[in-house]
Amino acid sequence: MTVLVLGGTGFIGPRLIRRLVERGEKVVCMDLNPSTAAFAGWEEEVQVIRGDVTQFEDVMRAVIEAKPGRMINLAYRLGGGEENPHHAIRLNILGMDNCFEAARLYGVPRVVYASSIAVSGQQSNFGSRMATEDDPAYGTSQYAVCKAFNEFQAQQYIQNHGMSITGIRPANVTGPDKVRGSTDHVQCITLPAAGEPVRFPYKSMMRLPIHVEDISEAFARVLLSDSPHHSIYNSGGTPISLGDLADMVRGFLPGAQIEFDDEGGLERSGNYLVDNSRLMDEFELEYAPFPSRVREIINDIRRDNGLPLV
Ligand SMILES: NC(=O)c1ccc[n+]([C@@H]2O[C@H](COP(=O)([O-])OP(=O)(O)OC[C@H]3O[C@@H](n4cnc5c(N)ncnc54)[C@H](O)[C@@H]3O)[C@@H](O)[C@H]2O)c1
Repeated sequence: MTVLVLGGTGFIGPRLIRRLVERGEKVVCMDLNPSTAAFAGWEEEVQVIRGDVTQFEDVMRAVIEAKPGRMINLAYRLGGGEENPHHAIRLNILGMDNCFEAARLYGVPRVVYASSIAVSGQQSNFGSRMATEDDPAYGTSQYAVCKAFNEFQAQQYIQNHGMSITGIRPANVTGPDKVRGSTDHVQCITLPAAGEPVRFPYKSMMRLPIHVEDISEAFARVLLSDSPHHSIYNSGGTPISLGDLADMVRGFLPGAQIEFDDEGGLERSGNYLVDNSRLMDEFELEYAPFPSRVREIINDIRRDNGLPLV
């Protein structure tokens, strides 16, 4: 089977594509930035083409040429988008709809897309309970509202056109090479790993990190599944404050210089208590223990910097 991956040369895409190839699938990857470095040695299995998801013709052409049995859209403007709402709408709303519409016209049997934990908004909307997929979307940022609209639009295509479209709401994805979206929980690991000091505003600010390899595995299973039971799934992750993450890092790097301006920040936290049982149970997922992932990221960075591993 051929899988068409849109926006596949970024942070999550190459890890997902590696998993698809390992399972015997052929991949066509379309991206505005068609870097092929991540796919060296897989020239037979992975075809990388340049295309823009905001241009319907590019998406339609990729679908017609790839004839995909599965299609996933990862192309997005990460982070707020408030500083350039026009671009955010073009990429996040029009780009996503171009994918759904091209899939509808061609008859792609299954489509998957990335939503986000951001749709849930602040944890204060849920008190001390876990948010589920059935809760209302409280997110107010440009990014969150775009993701909520994507979920609405997917539902329209499902109801009105009988399509099979599934979204995953990743939490705060972490990994050594993450540079877009939420990065405080990443820099709390990567900068001390490289021997650099780091400072954050709030010690008690909560995050819900999930390692990029774990979310890639979740995407692979949902994408290759024939008929998921639901149209949207929370990824969940490990709820942890930046202060506790700093302590975890110091456990591996006792000299790590991680400082905070303020002890508080809990009430400023986005949704960090998330029920992910729907995804974990149906797809029999198990994430690696978070401390081992933190150590892995530290060592990825130290290897790149020629420093001794921990
Ligand atoms: N990384 C996270 O923490 C996180 C958390 C929640 C949700 N998500 C979602 O997961 C998806 C993938 O995230 P990521 O971290 O891999 O992002 P990324 O920014 O690393 O990758 C996105 C890719 O899309 C490509 N792209 C951008 N504009 C394009 C266009 N017009 N046409 C074609 N390609 C274009 C980029 O070149 C890039 O390769 C996104 O939808 C994101 O919102 C990510």
